[in-house]
Order: sequence, then C-alpha cells, then structure tokens
Amino acid sequence: MKDDISISVIKRLPRYYRFLENLKNNGIVRISSKELAERMGLTASQIRHDFNCFGGFGQQGYGYNVPELYDKIGEILYVNKELKTILIGAGNLGKAVSSKIFQRKSGFRLIGVFDKNEALAGKIIRGLPVRHIDYLENFCRDNNPICAVICIPSNDMKELTDLLCRLGIRSFWNFSNYDIAMAHPEVLVENVHLTDSLMTLSYITETRLLDEAQEG
Ligand code: NAI
Repeated sequence: MKDDISISVIKRLPRYYRFLENLKNNGIVRISSKELAERMGLTASQIRHDFNCFGGFGQQGYGYNVPELYDKIGEILYVNKELKTILIGAGNLGKAVSSKIFQRKSGFRLIGVFDKNEALAGKIIRGLPVRHIDYLENFCRDNNPICAVICIPSNDMKELTDLLCRLGIRSFWNFSNYDIAMAHPEVLVENVHLTDSLMTLSYITETRLLDEAQEG
C-alpha cells in the first residue's frame, strides 16, 4: 500500500469492486463518475478523490471503463493473489466462512483446516481434510501459511495466538472475541463481529421507532 493512501479509502474499495462487478455482469461497459456516484449513494467528487489516490482511472468526457476499472481495483486489493491461509475451528462458523467466502477471489487461498475435536479429523471442508490441531506446528513449518482465520471461542486463544505468531502467521481474520492485536501488536488483524453490526441495527431501529411514536 502506498504510504499516503488512507485506510478509509482502502476500506471503500471493496464496495466499488462489488458495484463494478455487478455493472460488468449486466453488460455495462462505461459509466460516468456522476452516475456511479448516484448508484452508490456517494458524491462524484468523493469517487474522483478516491480514484485519484491511485492516479485516477477515468478519462475526461468518457467516464470510466467498467471492466478496466473493475480489474484495476481488483489489482489494488490484490484479489488475484493467493496468500496461504489456514482456518482454525471447523465448527458452524468455520464451515460457513470457508465455504461461502473462500469460493470467490479474495487474495487468500485456504490450504489447511484445523480443529481440536478429534471426531472432525478427516472430514472434508472446501476440499481439505480437517486436521487435528496437534498437527498445526508441523503443517506450518512445512507449508508456511501467512494468514489464519480464527473461528473458535476465546478460551484457548492466548496460547494459540502465541503459537501461530511463532510459526510465522502475519495476519489474522479474527472472529473470536480475543484481542489479538493487544497481545501481538506486530501482526495485522481484521476483527469481524457480526453482532456489532446487529446491535447497531437494533439501536437505529429502536430510536427510529421511538421518534415515530413521539411524533405520532
Ligand atoms: P462451534 O462450536 O460450531 O465450533 C467451534 C469449533 O472450534 C469446534 O469444532 C471446536 O472443536 C473448535 N475449537 C475450539 N477450541 C479450539 C482450539 N483451541 N483449537 C482448534 N479448534 C478449536 O462454534 P461456532 O458457531 O463455529 O462459533 C465459533 C466461535 O466463533 C464461537 O466462539 C463464537 O462465539 C464465535 N462467533 C463469532 C461470530 C462473529 O461474528 N465474530 C459469529 C458467530 C460465532
């Protein structure tokens, strides 16, 4: 990532990517920043500002070429890369995350699945056998994964995180409640808490209902 590009711009890129994928799949080849802005609920100047961080992709008077812009944003997000990734926890969430998310290009490739439940050993997830967690160390030494997806409760996370960091894991997609970054500020962590999003929805829904009740 270029040093001068803010993380908030980077965080907006996946949304552009999704929108452009949709436009591309609908056969749209060209779009103006104004039209893209209208469709996305943004302003044209916001879009131009975001794209200018990468040198700007449009042409004066033409707008954006949708398939080209889609590819460019994909390149910026490294979606075609395949960072070696392991999944820890082959329960409900681990299965859902691996089957629904790793089936599309995301920049990551799942190479190993681990669980401490012996009954799961040998079961197949995303074409990979679930391995007992005892094999984690040898597997990492042989295969050098870079990223770990964490789909287990927090109980064992301190020990596990220490081990994963020692084994060379550099980034975590963390669904557990354990604060990995606090214990290991040297690694990169994306925390995902679906319930945070749900609680936000709860707040805005309830306050809207209360406001309407007061008005009515
Ligand atoms: P689950 O019980 O179906 O699966 C958990 C799996 O983790 C089990 O197979 C268990 O054997 C394994 N496991 C536990 N400790 C382990 C360890 N030290 N090493 C390897 N494997 C281990 O539970 P589910 O529904 O898949 O949820 C997993 C965790 O994710 C829960 O703690 C839950 O709170 C959290 N979660 C987080 C969400 C989020 O949005 N961040 C959403 C849903 C669940």
